[in-house]
Amino acid sequence: MKAIDIIEKKQKNEILEYDEIQYMVNSYVKGKINDKTMSDFLWLIYNNGLTLDETVALTDVMIKSGEEIDLSSLKMPVVDKHSTGGVGDKITLIVSPIVAAAGVCVPKMSGRGLGLTGGTVDKLESIPGYKLNLNRKQFIEALSKVGCAVISQSEKIAVADKKIYALRNEIGAVDSIPLIASSIMSKKIASGSDIIIIDLKVGKGAFMKNVKEATKLAKTMVKIGKAYNKKVICTLSDMNIPLGRNIGNALEVREAMDFFAGKHDKRLYELSVYISSLMISSAKNISFRRAKSIVLNLLENGYAKTKFYQWIKYQGGDLTKLKEKAKKYIVVSDKTGYVNSIDSNVIAKLVFDLGAGRKKKTDGIDYACGVILNKQLGEKVNKGEILGVIYYNKKVEDMENIFKDAFNIEKRKRQVKKIIISTVK
Ligand code: URA
Repeated sequence: MKAIDIIEKKQKNEILEYDEIQYMVNSYVKGKINDKTMSDFLWLIYNNGLTLDETVALTDVMIKSGEEIDLSSLKMPVVDKHSTGGVGDKITLIVSPIVAAAGVCVPKMSGRGLGLTGGTVDKLESIPGYKLNLNRKQFIEALSKVGCAVISQSEKIAVADKKIYALRNEIGAVDSIPLIASSIMSKKIASGSDIIIIDLKVGKGAFMKNVKEATKLAKTMVKIGKAYNKKVICTLSDMNIPLGRNIGNALEVREAMDFFAGKHDKRLYELSVYISSLMISSAKNISFRRAKSIVLNLLENGYAKTKFYQWIKYQGGDLTKLKEKAKKYIVVSDKTGYVNSIDSNVIAKLVFDLGAGRKKKTDGIDYACGVILNKQLGEKVNKGEILGVIYYNKKVEDMENIFKDAFNIEKRKRQVKKIIISTVK
């Protein structure tokens, strides 16, 4: 087999066989074909697409390029959750303990920030002592004792995806449905859960900008799941507006603590309850309604909160020492009206420039910096009232105006868009 023949075949838009896809991926991982040849192949996929069978083949080859986790020793129903990445997305920190408190196991491997959006691993690293690198035995032990564990994505899982993803990122071939679907699903399937709930973010602050494309991606992931006998459910949720009030690593952990103390942002609460209910209903095979009443109970009676603190402590984290050391810059509104939108992309870029994200994989980050939105979507603000607070250690030029300009404040209140757009199963 030769790479050039496979590339020519794809150029003619012919359907590739499993072993041709396997040849390209494995040869690239082994260094037998170079970045240029693989880029040509990826660009052809980007432009011509893949059939479902080809996408499943690509997923399969990437799964087999690394280790697969066996969770069969866990004596509880198991469900995994994945977010495609958003601004202020601390849902994993909130739903994992809620679902674990309901007696459903949540084995979660998370990643670092991608582009402008933060990653769960970075957020958890803002808690001194928190161990992200549990080995397989410790991971299973944590899951059996606590019910949830969040660790960093193992380097040994879907090894090919890691190498291909880095190349896609470098050449700009990220937003292709078969490439994204196979990348996400290979990691999730290799991670061992039979039920996978995906929170697919759509809007300005997400890599999926419109509902039509996001729905296509969701359907592809559900179909890949079916090929593996896995139950995959995708929720499309709005990411035009930042999620919750705090954006930045330690600030988001703080917001999760506030959440369990009963101080909720409305949209964050709605999505957290929805995703946890979906996870519990699919894992326990009960109705969504029943699962939702379990979730509301666990929040009300404090069991979910207890589970949150138990989980962080079990993994060595000390929440009393959260890395929050930063100066505060208060931004007041120069208008009176209603907040009709907050541009999540502008906020993400500001938080990134403050130091919360990394340009290169090896860059350090500032865990304490970020912003708090004192006013969220649909809320009234008066001239002179606090719009938000910027937490910084290194000022960004014009940060006050950048922050203010992210808000669209108008005299008339517009209808607030729902956070949950649809669910694909
Ligand atoms: N997240 C992934 O894991 N892979 C992609 O291709 C895009 C987002």
